[in-house]
Amino acid sequence: MTNSHLNSFLRLLMVALLATHRTVTSSSSSGDDITGTCRVCARATPSLSYKFCVSSLRSVPASRHVDLRGLALISIELAIVNASETISTVEGMINQGSYDQDPVAMSCLKECLGGYEDATDALLRGVGDFTAGKYTLVGESVSGVMDMCKKCEGGFEKGGKICPLKEENYDLFQLCNIALCIIVGNLSSVPGESVV
Ligand SMILES: *[C@@H]1O[C@H](CO)[C@@H](O)[C@H](O)[C@H]1NC(C)=O
Ligand SMILES: *[C@@H]1O[C@H](CO)[C@@H](O)[C@H](O)[C@H]1NC(C)=O
Repeated sequence: MTNSHLNSFLRLLMVALLATHRTVTSSSSSGDDITGTCRVCARATPSLSYKFCVSSLRSVPASRHVDLRGLALISIELAIVNASETISTVEGMINQGSYDQDPVAMSCLKECLGGYEDATDALLRGVGDFTAGKYTLVGESVSGVMDMCKKCEGGFEKGGKICPLKEENYDLFQLCNIALCIIVGNLSSVPGESVV
């Protein structure tokens, strides 16, 4: 994704977040929503890191003032920014030439690059679907991105190579995991712990 696309997306997101903001009730302005949401999500989803959840949501100041829908949207936004950063990282790795003598790793890298490009598109569509209330569709897109992260990692492992994108795959997987927990689980799967 080009920077101008990303910028216009972020502007759109601001509008969406402001719309979300209006629905915020007085009880959710304490900032407890982040720790509460992350606690419930980490409990419901063993692969989700509580620490990662809290620190990534806290990195966006607006997340203190939004409801659950806003937190899901913010995690998707973070995932989009993350995935597009990774596209540049992988392009750099490919162009640098350090993988030129390693056709197996090079083909894995190219596979991951395509995966990350598709992921960015899917997440951007996900924002549109989210604002349209099509949560099932968003959940499918987000799970697809999580599968892509595993596939990227698995490609290197199958080829007997160390994946140079471990951190990137982990970060994107976790960001999607947060969104998925809120969207699909909607925090209602743990009795008595719903923060909705
Ligand atoms: C991806 O997101 C994580 C969590 O917010 C952050 O720690 C990391 O720096 C981000 N990576 C990139 C490349 O933006
Ligand atoms: C959460 O669940 C409620 C009721 O089950 C539903 O109306 C709402 O749309 C859901 N929110 C999200 C973000 O999925």
